[in-house]
Amino acid sequence: MKLKDKVCIVTGATSGMGKSIAKGLSAEGARLVLSGRNQERGKALEEELDNAVFLAGDITDPSYNKKLVETALEAYGKLDILSLNAGILGIGNVENLSIDLWRNTIDTNLSSIFYLCKYALPHLQKQPQGNILINASIAAFKSFPNHPAYCASKAASVALMKQIAVDYAPKIRVNAICPGPVDTPLLWESAKAFEQPDTAVENAKRTTLLKRLGTPEDITKLVLFLVSDDSSWITGTTVTIDGGIINT
Ligand SMILES: NC(=O)c1ccc[n+]([C@@H]2O[C@H](COP(=O)([O-])OP(=O)(O)OC[C@H]3O[C@@H](n4cnc5c(N)ncnc54)[C@H](OP(=O)(O)O)[C@@H]3O)[C@@H](O)[C@H]2O)c1
Repeated sequence: MKLKDKVCIVTGATSGMGKSIAKGLSAEGARLVLSGRNQERGKALEEELDNAVFLAGDITDPSYNKKLVETALEAYGKLDILSLNAGILGIGNVENLSIDLWRNTIDTNLSSIFYLCKYALPHLQKQPQGNILINASIAAFKSFPNHPAYCASKAASVALMKQIAVDYAPKIRVNAICPGPVDTPLLWESAKAFEQPDTAVENAKRTTLLKRLGTPEDITKLVLFLVSDDSSWITGTTVTIDGGIINT
């Protein structure tokens, strides 16, 4: 087991990639604090996994992030890894995206990373090697129709990742993954932003060099590599995992 007794907070654990990542971390022996708003899905995952505690809350609230860290310390006595997956789309062009949705998207996709890192870093630094992995997106590098808040927040999350890597090396490794289209509820929701929503996901799939959507399990395998000692000389970087779509 690659992650035996490592303590990890997983945000966005109630759906899509975060859920698959939580299962993968658990299978490798990690002990988890699971985050999300949906009580039913969070509790179901808590029951399914060994050594997992679910704490429901809104990731845009700094005090909830503090509680996630406190929960890890109370339940397991330490904290080794953050897997940051919570995200929303905030669809709309600059004129028709409401100010509330702009703010909520930036808060969910970017500020929450700052909040959780702020409260977690003092404890991560007590471990031989702390590890932070941000789930960004190819939207950090490439624009998509009607995703201004999403693309801006993802690009900024990569900048924040590099900054934390510089400020906290060598104690902490910090990286970001940049997935392309992965088959989750968020991907199907994003289709609404395109001129032809009915064919948007199929178009994305066809545009990848590998001619398929990513699966949450594809992403989980990369996450397990990046949060384990297998990647012990990797920090401050992005890893694109997108079936080659960034080159098209
Ligand atoms: N799917 C893709 O094609 C793709 C590609 C590149 C990057 N990504 C990124 O990958 C990450 C995971 O996305 P996904 O595709 O797995 O999406 P998803 O299935 O929609 O999951 C999103 C997760 O974020 C949580 N979340 C959203 N707002 C929250 C809030 N205010 N407070 C707490 N939790 C919140 C949701 O939990 P609740 O609903 O329980 O609150 C859910 O667990 C996101 O950051 C996304 O931007 C996705």
